[in-house]
Amino acid sequence: MSGEKNNKYVQKDLDCFKAELSEKDFQAFSAFIYSEYGIKMPPVKRIMLQGRLLKRIRELNMQSYSEYKDYFFSKEGQQKELFNFLNVITTNKTDFFREPVHFDFLMNQVLPEHINNSTGKSTFKVWSAGCSSGEEPYTISIVLNNFKQMHPNFAFSIMGSDISHKVLNVAAKGVYQESKIQIIPLDMKKRYFLKSKDRTFPSVRVKPELQNNIVLKYVNLMDNSYDVQEKFEVIFCRNVLIYFDRQTQEKVINKLCHHLQPGGYFFIGHSESLSGMNVPLTHIKPTIFRKEL
Ligand SMILES: C[S@@+](CC[C@H](N)C(=O)[O-])C[C@H]1O[C@@H](n2cnc3c(N)ncnc32)[C@H](O)[C@@H]1O
Repeated sequence: MSGEKNNKYVQKDLDCFKAELSEKDFQAFSAFIYSEYGIKMPPVKRIMLQGRLLKRIRELNMQSYSEYKDYFFSKEGQQKELFNFLNVITTNKTDFFREPVHFDFLMNQVLPEHINNSTGKSTFKVWSAGCSSGEEPYTISIVLNNFKQMHPNFAFSIMGSDISHKVLNVAAKGVYQESKIQIIPLDMKKRYFLKSKDRTFPSVRVKPELQNNIVLKYVNLMDNSYDVQEKFEVIFCRNVLIYFDRQTQEKVINKLCHHLQPGGYFFIGHSESLSGMNVPLTHIKPTIFRKEL
């Protein structure tokens, strides 16, 4: 559905609802979202937030935004509602093989380098930070599985993390509309996906070999430190930093770099930039960085 159509539906819903998110209530939510999750919520986002919260207000049978706000900030609300709140406030757009230059670089540069430099015993670890519904970690898994076919001793693991449990659950199920994998070449589709028999809802399921090496977990990039023990050879943090301000971006990247091996690679989204930031990364190519040795 186009953004414009979507807005029309939201507007229609709002007309029936006859209530709006006041400036004051918006500010309370916006300050909370920014301080806890780093996501910028300037005043221009008020109507967007209003539309997203309406769904929860309806589900909870509430009468107004202020009733929802009082509930959300109560002790009970903070225990019971946070989960649903995060599911509606996050923007989770993603795709298989999104920004394909990163996957070419992984296949043609990072992996051959790893094989040439390693003793053959170490596991190649990748973190997809802000992995949304799983298309990014599964794409990484396709690339690593393809590489493993040529190098049978190659061992790898992938961690995907996000703050939305809804998208983490989609990732864990690994079931997608068939149209989402259109971009994947036919031989890889056959190798890594199973078609559903139900043709009324054409869907595919990722095969176990794509899922076996993936761990999914909740990690809030705003936390002071992350409950992650590993050091990774590669970190993907793409189209996540864009929601943060520069100061937050710099802090998050420095924390992520604690979990990156010296010489490890760091990928960001094409509309993001690290220029002028005090981070231990060297620019290799647009959106591709390497941790100093
Ligand atoms: C637009 S998606 C990007 C998905 C994928 N990386 C890609 O490029 O296709 C951004 C994801 O970042 C997650 N996110 C936002 N703030 C976060 C935070 N503070 N900690 C962890 N994940 C966060 C959102 O829930 C969302 O799923």
